[in-house]
Amino acid sequence: MERIVIKGGSKLSGTVKISSAKNSVLPVIVASVLSCGRCEIDSSAMLEDVHVISEVLRSIGADICINKEKIIIDSSHIRNGEPTGELVRKMRASFLIMGPMLSRFGRFKISLPGGCNIGTRPIDLHLKGMIALGADIILGHGYVEAKASRLIGSKIYLDFPSVGATENLMMAAVMAEGETIIENAAEEPEIEDLATFLNSMGSQVVGAGTGTIKILGVNNLKEANHTPIFDRIEAGTFMMAAGITKSKIKIEGVNEEHLKPIIAKLTEMGISMEIGNNNIIVDGTNELRPVDIKTMPYPGFPTDMQAQMMSLLCTVKGTSVITETIFENRFMHATELNRMGANIKLDGRSAVIEGVKKLSGCEVKATDLRGGAAMILSGLAAEGKTEISDIYHIDRGYVNIEEKFKKLGADIDRYDI
Ligand code: EPU
Repeated sequence: MERIVIKGGSKLSGTVKISSAKNSVLPVIVASVLSCGRCEIDSSAMLEDVHVISEVLRSIGADICINKEKIIIDSSHIRNGEPTGELVRKMRASFLIMGPMLSRFGRFKISLPGGCNIGTRPIDLHLKGMIALGADIILGHGYVEAKASRLIGSKIYLDFPSVGATENLMMAAVMAEGETIIENAAEEPEIEDLATFLNSMGSQVVGAGTGTIKILGVNNLKEANHTPIFDRIEAGTFMMAAGITKSKIKIEGVNEEHLKPIIAKLTEMGISMEIGNNNIIVDGTNELRPVDIKTMPYPGFPTDMQAQMMSLLCTVKGTSVITETIFENRFMHATELNRMGANIKLDGRSAVIEGVKKLSGCEVKATDLRGGAAMILSGLAAEGKTEISDIYHIDRGYVNIEEKFKKLGADIDRYDI
């Protein structure tokens, strides 16, 4: 079983390059199904999740060629079969296939994605939206089947600005008859990126990236190429690495706009930043102050940065409070951090963190993707050796993370132990 082993205490320096955003690449790969032809995605991050979604699409007949950082998807031979249930259940984003497949074939059956370790993650908002677009939904035996000879544009109000539901419904609506309006839509930059790709295929989507998205249905979509946006969560993880190791590093491949909530909190803590064109220099050498954080839908503080922020706050003198409002079970990393000598008390959706002088390296596990990133950050700052198991979670969302940290001067390696 592979593990990441870190000897803590090294200062970081130099430049790190950010990869393209996992949460853009996945829906864009899925959206290519709508073209009935060949789409190319450039500079894509070759993550474990990219391989899983590719396998899901291959299981219904897509031809996918992954070549270095380019993904070529030929969906002309896709058939309206059921994607392999085992693959679908591996990754929640697989459920995004529902919208485009229903739109293209008029019916589609797929395994329910199931829960995952950060929360139960239901799909009711996806299904309510499909029903509003005129689909009949049949649920049973762990599967969901949707049918509609042609989807009809409609007004959909999301009870919560769900990222996945917004994406799924956008993809369902681009070929529906007439106009669809999605209100209380998620505003994450990845939604805007998906709309950019859909529009380059010939869709008419306006307002993506705001709370109201208008989609005028078209009859067919054409082949297109796309370069996804940079990964704001990977960038944020390296920004926090500078803070926790008290180092100064340059991060290349960032969009300042997308990082605003992270920049604001790190600045409040005393971390200095120099923002350039597509890059940011982060100076974590100052004495840092504790802060309170509440995760919120974009443009609020991202839940995907909560675990890494917790690691950082564990090393900052004083009391910080983190409130997680998006997922009900996203504090699993707290137990692992306490094993390293952190002082975190959980109370429902809140974590109270008393900064400690030093974390001490030990054996910990990656409890989920971002929890795993948090373990790496803590390991970089801890005294002695930290050995992280279950690192397959980390590989789902970070490209060569140990290589990137090694290049910055960290004492970090991956072993098959
Ligand atoms: N929700 C419902 N019903 C639904 C859909 C969502 O109740 O039908 C709830 C969820 O249970 C959760 C909240 O709404 O409590 C937010 O879920 P959302 O649908 O926004 O999340 P998602 O689309 O499943 C994406 C990212 C996650 C990220 C969240 C929130 C992808 C592939 N995944 O998930 O990324 O945490 O948005 O920003 O885009 C990660 O990268 O580590 C990760 C988990």
